[in-house]
Amino acid sequence: MVDSPGGTPGRVWRRFPQLAVAAMKHLAGGRSNLPMRPLDLALLAYLTHRDDLAKAHDPEAFVEFVRGCLESINYSISWVKRGATNDIPGQRFMTGVSMLERRVPSMSLPEASRIALAADELAADATLTEAWGRPVDVGSHFTMSSSPPRKGRLLFGLVRSAQAQSCLELGTAYGLSALFMAAASPEETPCRIDTIEFYEQQFSIAQDLVGRLAPRKVYCHQGLTTEVIPKLDLVDKVGFVFHDANHTRQAYIEDFGAFEPLLTSGAFVLFDDIRWDNPIPESAPSETYEGWMEVVRHPRVVRAVEIDGELGLLQVR
Ligand SMILES: C[S@@+](CC[C@H](N)C(=O)[O-])C[C@H]1O[C@@H](n2cnc3c(N)ncnc32)[C@H](O)[C@@H]1O
Repeated sequence: MVDSPGGTPGRVWRRFPQLAVAAMKHLAGGRSNLPMRPLDLALLAYLTHRDDLAKAHDPEAFVEFVRGCLESINYSISWVKRGATNDIPGQRFMTGVSMLERRVPSMSLPEASRIALAADELAADATLTEAWGRPVDVGSHFTMSSSPPRKGRLLFGLVRSAQAQSCLELGTAYGLSALFMAAASPEETPCRIDTIEFYEQQFSIAQDLVGRLAPRKVYCHQGLTTEVIPKLDLVDKVGFVFHDANHTRQAYIEDFGAFEPLLTSGAFVLFDDIRWDNPIPESAPSETYEGWMEVVRHPRVVRAVEIDGELGLLQVR
């Protein structure tokens, strides 16, 4: 192994607090014209007093992930259905949409760091799995299929705006999006999140992850969405749904039909990848956009917007 200039990487990390303080002093002393943004300072100060960075397999990706959970983010919105907004749920939806257009709340540094370490751990997992009938390692599949911080922040902001007691996620994968949703509710009054995954291996990795990082908040179920949803034993009606399972017109419609009776009045439903098409040449067209528009025409849907042209958010009466 080739040593880094300051010694082994381990020694560099042990010296990280001194290096960080030296960097801050250097910048504060005006001996550098490198701009240091408040967010960089906050990150540096936090990481100086923790060993989180030393635990990361990929420190650069780890820091970028944490940054994505904290930096100022907004989204582009286009309306597709606009019911009157003079009722309380309507105002809640408008407030949520305007939050997305202006600035989604930042996550806390410890929460961001916890999720970033979980993502780092999964991305480094070389265990063999299968995706779309092909062998692939967990790390590559996780990186391809899981929510990056930009989507995670969207979930975090929307679960807060929906003021849900109970959330449902279709398509758990490795549990990362569920962690973003779980971070939106306080420990004392947690929102319950039920999440469904078909594949056994992803289900058990997710179950282990959320059991460690979001116990008493996230409950994983294994099976097909349309089979599991009717068997869910929920205490509260669902106030927020994230649909990120099968991305086809038919699945959007069938899944919406299955969970619609569970929705509370004013619930938010977010569909991912409304303009997705299956890249596998021999597969049938996905027609997700047709499916999304068909759901929007459902008589219970009062308002709907598209986010970044990629996700569809609706509210039911
Ligand atoms: C895009 S990934 C989900 C990513 C995850 N929500 C995240 O952001 O971290 C889609 C997942 O849905 C699962 N899935 C697809 N169709 C399903 C179905 N009908 N029932 C249950 N799970 C399904 C797949 O196995 C896959 O793990």
